[in-house]
Amino acid sequence: MIGLYSCQRDNDLAEPAGQAWNGPTPYQLVFPSWATAPMHVLAIPEDNPLTVEGIALGRKLFYEKALSNDYSMSCATCHQQEFAFTDPRTVSLGTDGSPGRRNSMAVINPAWDQQFFWDGRAASLEAQALGPVANMIEMRNTWPEVESRLAAHPDYPLLFEHAFGSPGVDSMRVVKAIAQFERTFISFNSRFDRYEYGGDNTALSPQEIIGRDLFFGESHCNDCHAAPFFSDNTMTSIGTDGGSANDHGMEEVTGLHPDAFKFKTNTLRNIGVTAPYMHDGRHETLEQVVAFYLDSVEADAPNISQHMAPYFNGGVALDADQRAALVAFMLALTDTEFLNNPALSDPN
Ligand code: HEC
Ligand code: HEC
Repeated sequence: MIGLYSCQRDNDLAEPAGQAWNGPTPYQLVFPSWATAPMHVLAIPEDNPLTVEGIALGRKLFYEKALSNDYSMSCATCHQQEFAFTDPRTVSLGTDGSPGRRNSMAVINPAWDQQFFWDGRAASLEAQALGPVANMIEMRNTWPEVESRLAAHPDYPLLFEHAFGSPGVDSMRVVKAIAQFERTFISFNSRFDRYEYGGDNTALSPQEIIGRDLFFGESHCNDCHAAPFFSDNTMTSIGTDGGSANDHGMEEVTGLHPDAFKFKTNTLRNIGVTAPYMHDGRHETLEQVVAFYLDSVEADAPNISQHMAPYFNGGVALDADQRAALVAFMLALTDTEFLNNPALSDPN
């Protein structure tokens, strides 16, 4: 039985009579045309084009627990689809249970991003994915160990060959495949999108429309969380202090004081399912986040962005109904199709 099975797999790869295998199949990302506003350019490295086989391999690897030292943890442990690929815990825990310093990040539309992590220290999804495996408060493994586990696996060697056109299992191919899979995490089908871009006037409730108008107007949220990505792709200080982990954000990467307390402006897409909020998960609810912006922004916070000036000294004054409308609007950014997309789920 086992012999038969491996025989079939060999046949998969063997060239069918008279028909040469042309290598991995190119894959075209599908997204609405309005999502390619001039400032938004797809960031797909030339040496890692998307292919059907590469994405399928990346999907299997994203959910692969052999990446962690004790086979207990995959990327998906801290990046769960139902939570828009983040982790509901305030800070993530490593395989030995020790807490990290930061809240896990949602992974949404990363194909357009060029700065990853809260402090922006990785310039590509490929570079990002190299980190967690050997991180001592995450997967606590080594790359040589991961490579030998995958190379000895009954399925992976052939999947790597199909994905990259030649035999070989190595760390660069692992991160390339995972990055390809992550680039298919596309979320542009919230009720807001149907209202704003799809011409469906009934997709938002009257309260959500009030919240929408506040978000884009008086509340200045869109100055940084700019639609349609709900991020301006910058590292910005909004005056959050280092918190209990004494986290200095981007300064820890560059060593420059002017970068202190700068963090990545996260997308607000699917924000209703990614609590808790901010780099250290300091806010449990969106109501608390709104209260932070409206009630407690300090003009003299280190390196605070000029885009925060409207909030100095309670400069944006909203009553309770308006605050509730702003929160209701953010909840309308949830894309249930994305959260339930079977192509992004655990293939095993
Ligand atoms: C133990 C939990 C944990 C595991 C396991 C883990 N991550 Fe993360 N991930 C995090 C945390 C926490 C952050 C934010 C860390 C920081 O900013 O320093 C993060 C950040 C990211 C980001 C950045 C998102 C952005 O918008 O900048 C991506 C992408 C990502 N992880 C993908 C992965 C992949 C791929 C794997 C598997 C190879 C993985 N993660 C494994 C917890 C985890
Ligand atoms: C000056 C730019 C800027 C403005 C204006 C701004 N934000 Fe933010 N926002 C950020 C940055 C940067 C972060 C991440 C900060 C951190 O983690 O410490 C953030 C984080 C958030 C988060 C948490 C994201 C997450 O994934 O945890 C929410 C929710 C949010 N902002 C909502 C709003 C709302 C609502 C407004 C308007 C009232 C607003 N923001 C205005 C830059 C901005």
